[in-house]
Amino acid sequence: MHATHAFPRLARRRSALWLTVCALVVAAVALAAPSGATATTPAAAPTAAAAQEPVTVVASDFEDGTTQGWSARGGETVAASTEVAHGGTGSLAVTGRTGTWQGPALSVGDLLTLGTSYDVSVWVRLADGTAGDTVRLSAERHVDGQASYHTLGSAQATAGGWVELTGEYTPTAAAEYVGLYVETASVTADFFVDDALVSYQPDPPIQTDIPSLRDAVTGFPVGAGVEPSHLYGSRGDLLAKHYESLTTGNALKWDATQPTEGTFRFTDADAIVDFATEHGMAVRGHTLVWHNQTPSWVFTDANGDPMTPTAENKALLLDRLETHIRTVMGEYAGRVEVWDVVNEVIDESQSDGMRRSPWFQIAGLDYIRTAFRVAHEVDPDARLFINDYNTNVPAKRDALFDLVSQLRAEGVPIHGVGHQMHVNVEWPSVAETETMLQTFAPLGLEQQITEMDVSIYTSSGESFPTPPEERLRAQAEQYRAMFQLFDRYADQITSVTLWGVTDTDSWLNGSRADAPLLFDREFQAKEAFWAVVDPDWPNGPGEPTGDCAVRYQVVGSWSGGFEGRVTVTNTSAEPVDGWSLRWTFGAGQRVTQGWNAELSQSVDVVTAENASWNGQLAAGGSRAFGFLASWTDANPAPETFTLNGVSCTTA
Ligand code: XIL
Repeated sequence: MHATHAFPRLARRRSALWLTVCALVVAAVALAAPSGATATTPAAAPTAAAAQEPVTVVASDFEDGTTQGWSARGGETVAASTEVAHGGTGSLAVTGRTGTWQGPALSVGDLLTLGTSYDVSVWVRLADGTAGDTVRLSAERHVDGQASYHTLGSAQATAGGWVELTGEYTPTAAAEYVGLYVETASVTADFFVDDALVSYQPDPPIQTDIPSLRDAVTGFPVGAGVEPSHLYGSRGDLLAKHYESLTTGNALKWDATQPTEGTFRFTDADAIVDFATEHGMAVRGHTLVWHNQTPSWVFTDANGDPMTPTAENKALLLDRLETHIRTVMGEYAGRVEVWDVVNEVIDESQSDGMRRSPWFQIAGLDYIRTAFRVAHEVDPDARLFINDYNTNVPAKRDALFDLVSQLRAEGVPIHGVGHQMHVNVEWPSVAETETMLQTFAPLGLEQQITEMDVSIYTSSGESFPTPPEERLRAQAEQYRAMFQLFDRYADQITSVTLWGVTDTDSWLNGSRADAPLLFDREFQAKEAFWAVVDPDWPNGPGEPTGDCAVRYQVVGSWSGGFEGRVTVTNTSAEPVDGWSLRWTFGAGQRVTQGWNAELSQSVDVVTAENASWNGQLAAGGSRAFGFLASWTDANPAPETFTLNGVSCTTA
């Protein structure tokens, strides 16, 4: 593999490779540089990612007349060749194939770091005169002597033409062997490969000089829902610095732990539980029973058909449930203290409030009773939760309350209610969330916030390429308000878990990018982070103030409307070229019209950008603009203003 590191003969036109070598040096320097962040200045967060260049770990150009570590998968011949080349004069020839799977392989296990996402590419050319075919780039892994194969990329190749195969590979668990290989779909013709590259983008470093969530939030432990790939690099650094508890994101769901009957897998969960143990964190086990991510065999009857609601099938299903819980919880007894035993069982649109999952249709409420009974038997010290989303919505909240009350009265060992709290920047209100907490209080159970995230979107039709500033501000306010509420109920709330760590990793990223968490895509603390950790937010002690002054006046007011006038003064010694003044309306006021500035409003946050002709704000100079707005019950003046992100004094 060593040969693949070096470039003994960098050919003239190998600019891509040459740049990569330079990049290695640049990246090393960038990694060594201090982050430059300051403890209390959110605006000063470094954009470290901009300086990061990809690091290459494999670059096989076959210019040195060797195979550079590539070898045959079995029986065929793999040799350096100068017959054709994609770049330079050398390539790797694969001849004597009798099976489509035969092709060149490179062992890369020693070169890869767990949790790192690698870009893999290679050029392939089918021999002249052969039929075209699909060519594939794949990874082969051996774990406990078992091989598994993952196609990373494929492409249609025509004889005699070079085609590039590209893909992505992230190793997340230790393996005895990891190899990359190239094969064909149908033909067994000779082929050539050239210019194989494996590279990765190093993580930007995390801010080490900011407060830790775990120190700043004292009412309850703060946790994160994670995947095994989040335990490494800067993600792992963020976890270790800020969080006191981890929830297994997908790793303990039924499809991960018992994909086929009787075959249990704990690789992913082990990685998370081991990390938590090493860092002194608690673990929430998620989840033993759910209607999603449950393999179909669970609901297949003794004849191999989908189960119908018969006594026999109910017995078989509850038996499988018992075996599953005994095995999975038994594996982690004493190490996982809290379990989401059942997840999302409520459907408030049903007259009895129960979701019509296969579990319910075959076993009625007995699946819930069995799950809690068995869980309690396996680990009597574990705290057992019923977990659901939208538990603030009155109908759902009440259905869940009724179910928990009934089961508790029967003696079912339920110890806590989990509120997922997948919310957004304007929903739900603090009042409704408070009622949610109050509703369950009489049961005397623990309550936990189990999967919180605050989407920047307020409707399904929205999509932003990058999160607008005003949404991030509204998000910070939502996080702050909710954490303040949780603090008031800290005697009942025994943990608050966020569903992910950085915006990149959120499950809400799908057809549109979301940004629902406390750390951004560059691993830096967002405004929402400061809103949670800094009691003085948005006027933190370290936040620069005094470079601007704002005078806000209501110059006319009538039923339902008012006219505002704002004067902003640049009190710094430097002129400002282009200004943006932002404030938050605290009582639902809405701007309807503006002049001498471009006004826009998103949720409660108003942004006033300079007009084309008044963007210059001289040192000591002022600009004034006006607006019309609506109001209803009250019309308090905004408390704080920021000019280009910096807080202003108010006059
Ligand atoms: C999500 C995971 O985060 C995703 O990776 C997966 O594709 C789907 O499930 N409620 C739950 C969690 O209880 O298990 C879900 O997790 C999010 C909604």
